[in-house]
Amino acid sequence: MSKPGESGIALIGAGALAQELLELFSAADARFFSACYAEPEFTTGARIGLPLISDLSALRKKARYFVLGLAAPQDRVRITYQLTAAGLEPAHPLIMPTAIVSPTASLAPGTLIGHGVQVGSRCRIGAHNLLMHHVVFGHDTTTGEHVILNSGVYVAGYVTLHDKVVINANATLTKGIVVGENAFIAPGAVCFRSVPESATAVGNPARFFAGSTR
Ligand SMILES: CC(C)(COP(=O)(O)OP(=O)(O)OC[C@H]1O[C@@H](n2cnc3c(N)ncnc32)[C@H](O)[C@@H]1OP(=O)(O)O)[C@@H](O)C(=O)NCCC(=O)NCCS
Repeated sequence: MSKPGESGIALIGAGALAQELLELFSAADARFFSACYAEPEFTTGARIGLPLISDLSALRKKARYFVLGLAAPQDRVRITYQLTAAGLEPAHPLIMPTAIVSPTASLAPGTLIGHGVQVGSRCRIGAHNLLMHHVVFGHDTTTGEHVILNSGVYVAGYVTLHDKVVINANATLTKGIVVGENAFIAPGAVCFRSVPESATAVGNPARFFAGSTR
């Protein structure tokens, strides 16, 4: 039997989805699924009391793979770089049992898929994406890395989401639009037109603010 350092998964946490992943996957095999914070800032005000392991070489001895439960794209990119440098690799996609992923879709490593998510035909989901519960992706949609979609987001067909896009709950994106890198889409926004890089989109129909207000 292999050791955790050969096949274990470290969850770097931690928000609501991370909590549920912990419950599900630790119940399945606690030995091979460990969770921690990687930087002291994450422990402040966090809702889940995870251990802090800031020595990433020590973490590598406990786990070979990692997934991110972090919400901020800049944190995700930084920690990914550090974890990779310490010899950890992104885990195969983790998919909640109630999600439906088309057999013609592809999911890159490090991606987490929540309850009731649907990923349609020929979608290509990039690395380290976080699809919260009940996100729906129509067909032929492509995402970059570290894209975060909150619960209930609806994305139509042929949409492109570039790296580090954040889309909040119940937003709708119509067919064929392109969302530029680092764009932020507010809860409930309905985007009929492409969203510029680093813009914030609010309302229905969505209007855009230059630059991120986060
Ligand atoms: C979009 C957002 C970042 C804007 O915050 P802000 O920079 O403080 O901007 P303001 O609140 O001053 O809003 C700017 C304008 O957008 C409007 N607006 C803000 N959020 C909106 C929304 N969700 N839908 C429609 N209009 C919205 C405001 O009414 C305001 O309009 P005005 O210029 O006509 O007065 C913020 O409202 C928001 O939605 N944050 C996301 C929070 C969230 O969902 N977090 C998820 C945690 S899991």
